[in-house]
Amino acid sequence: MAEMRVARRNPFLEGNFAPWRDEGDFQNLPVRGRLPAELQGTYYRNGPNPAFDPIGRYHWFDGDGMVHAVRIGAGRAAYSNRWVRSKGLLEEFRAGRALYYGLLELGRSEGGYKNTANTNVLFHASRFFALMEAGLPTELDPVTLVTLREYDFGGRLRGPMTAHPKIDPRSGELLFFGYSPVAPFLTFYRADPKGNLVSTEAIPGRMPAMVHDFAITEHYAVFFVCPLMFRLENMGSERPVFSWEPSQGMLWGVLPRNSGGDQIQWLECEPCFIFHAMNAYERGNTIVVDVVRYPYMELEQLEQRAEELADNAATLWRFTLETKIGRVWGEKHASVSCEFPRIDERMTGQRYRYGFMVARSPNAPATEGLPKFTALAKCDWQTGRTELRDFGPHVGVGEAVFVPRGATVREGDGYLLALIYDELRDTSELHVLSVEGFLDEPLAVVELPHRVPYGFHGAWVPGI
Ligand SMILES: [Fe+2]
Repeated sequence: MAEMRVARRNPFLEGNFAPWRDEGDFQNLPVRGRLPAELQGTYYRNGPNPAFDPIGRYHWFDGDGMVHAVRIGAGRAAYSNRWVRSKGLLEEFRAGRALYYGLLELGRSEGGYKNTANTNVLFHASRFFALMEAGLPTELDPVTLVTLREYDFGGRLRGPMTAHPKIDPRSGELLFFGYSPVAPFLTFYRADPKGNLVSTEAIPGRMPAMVHDFAITEHYAVFFVCPLMFRLENMGSERPVFSWEPSQGMLWGVLPRNSGGDQIQWLECEPCFIFHAMNAYERGNTIVVDVVRYPYMELEQLEQRAEELADNAATLWRFTLETKIGRVWGEKHASVSCEFPRIDERMTGQRYRYGFMVARSPNAPATEGLPKFTALAKCDWQTGRTELRDFGPHVGVGEAVFVPRGATVREGDGYLLALIYDELRDTSELHVLSVEGFLDEPLAVVELPHRVPYGFHGAWVPGI
């Protein structure tokens, strides 16, 4: 039975999900249009890119991290890409083959789970990291992309770090958490603006769930604990280690940022699944949390039937947490299927107006549950409108990263950077859009030297 599963077709190893197995550096890339003079820095994008043909059942979340960098300055662009040389990947390079099993077969690898550092990047206090939620951050050289080490904040970080830490734009603090299958299930951390880890707070947890992201407001950290349960006891059996158990309910945790973990307030609501928050803020006695919401989540969903998956489209929702009376309610903001929400990060934790997402245009071809997107969406919370920029049926659109036009310009005055893959030509480009002219022609298109596989999250770091 296990061998049959290994042999079956895996869409995450095909098309533009397939890995790109060369590393390189390319200068003076062709640019259509004109790169704005304000863009002086580097766009980074992380994603899974297995260096060797996987053993066992491969999930998209398993691939070795590869960081792609597009450096822009003086109207020119250059591209580099490197694998994150994790300890596990270095072992595999020495062996000349894959040695680690993925998350669908946790426990089969002798060396544990590989810290692939494949999910996101972070620049804080002059250090640059590749992140993956089951391990320590991996420090990279932001210019050469050379892997330096796993970073533990001088021995103070003893558990994993989420791939979605938050920088408070007002204080410069770095806020993050780690989750674990054993109690305490959540630990909340704060690092000061200089990158010193100053606080570690164990949160008395209610259930061992997979928690991918969180949100912050001016005074609180907000956790969404959905019933995708981490069942350690299923390791080594046919039952899933990550198990969707809606009967467990769903919890929202509200923790004052500067209090002990035992000060957390838990609120309950109908179960759903959330990978990502767009933003959150305080409004009177309530906390508003905007998220991309799935009705449910099965990590093995590609083994389900396509018609079942069609019912599980992710959409943008606004949840309101009434902490005084312990009530949570949510409402759908837009019906478009979307993911990877981003904002003008100068507004993190504050009342804000604009959000940006990848989306599936209503007339896009069916994707059988694959996370393929054909459009970008711009959400305006002030007008309630969501605009859709459709790139066409044969194009795959990556997460859009916002870059302000200057440090002091108003919210949303700037650019969106996104990787666009053309299925017909098998090429990738970096598109630079104006937020104001979201539906207009791109300001500039950087033609990349080869395709960039679909991946997860990225960031813009000015001046690098
Ligand atoms: Fe994510």
